[in-house]
Amino acid sequence: MTGALVDSFGRIASDLRVSLTDRCNLRCTYCMPPEGVPWLPSPDILTDAEVARLVGVAVTRLGIREIRFTGGEPLLRPGLVAIVEATAALVPRPTISLTTNAIGLDRMAGALRQAGLDRVNVSLDTLDEDRFAALTHRRRFADTLAGLHGAAAAGLTPVKLNTVLIRGVNDDEAVPLLRFALAHGYELRFIEQMPLDAQHTWDRTTMVTADEILAALRADFTLLPDPVDRAGAPAETWLVDGYRDLAGRPARVGVIGSVTRPFCGDCDRTRLTADGQVRNCLFAREESDLRGPLRGGADDAGLAQRWQAAMWPKKPGHGIDDPTFLQPPRPMSAIGG
Ligand code: 5AD
Ligand code: SF4
Repeated sequence: MTGALVDSFGRIASDLRVSLTDRCNLRCTYCMPPEGVPWLPSPDILTDAEVARLVGVAVTRLGIREIRFTGGEPLLRPGLVAIVEATAALVPRPTISLTTNAIGLDRMAGALRQAGLDRVNVSLDTLDEDRFAALTHRRRFADTLAGLHGAAAAGLTPVKLNTVLIRGVNDDEAVPLLRFALAHGYELRFIEQMPLDAQHTWDRTTMVTADEILAALRADFTLLPDPVDRAGAPAETWLVDGYRDLAGRPARVGVIGSVTRPFCGDCDRTRLTADGQVRNCLFAREESDLRGPLRGGADDAGLAQRWQAAMWPKKPGHGIDDPTFLQPPRPMSAIGG
């Protein structure tokens, strides 16, 4: 091993998020405008072999133990199954998961499971077909549901659900969504809306806060402190009294208070974009190019050193509350969640 991905504040990154494409078949309002955004030019996108090489460097030389594939929508990446397979063959084998809107996942879940995918996080913000269409600008609610259930049936468990609540749009669905998750044995996490949309329209007043979400849930459920240590995970979790998951363990619900309860001090993440740039933070305004050196013939040790150099200057926090805060130039769809 070359060494760990450590920053100047002593945080160690062991969790890598890889965006496999910036494209998406939905247009969630908090992410993209209805007309989409200019996509990355294809020659800039890492090939399957290049992704596998960099993931290999991260796992075998830099202490990465968890790989999450994201997008845009990672199921749109033609080589996804092969990339998962190459990742699963690494020693030590990392945990492999996928963040997806689940459209088409019912057809792909079996092959992905076979290739070594461990589990999925499915984005689902509403249980109402018309609201889904309004929120995503696409009538694909039935496809997302089919994909979600297909993932569970294929054993990509525990299936986690990600929900972003928006005031006046779906903020009355915290309890129905939790009931839905509990009924199916899925683990639900609410994520505070972050200023990462391509349109730059984020507004603190439309963000539903962690406190508000917990108050809404507590009206109908008893939430008990979770005895399991959070260990760097962004979600604060609670046990839902009286409910169990599919494996018979106490059911959990999570809240990711990215804005009002930042967890930057415990962050253990590093990110790779589809065009081969390392980002040391979701909100970073600087990136470090690995594609150029990779295509220029750098060896694995050289790539690992560049990755380490990219992580060292990671800022202590996202600074959303600073008057000087500026959104990163790339939107969420090109960073990966
Ligand atoms: N704020 C919070 N969450 C977001 N996501 C996408 N954009 C935002 C945002 N601006 C979520 C998606 C998905 C995950 C990758 O991040 O809903 O579940
Ligand atoms: Fe697509 Fe995810 Fe952005 Fe929605 S949030 S438009 S599913 S990339």
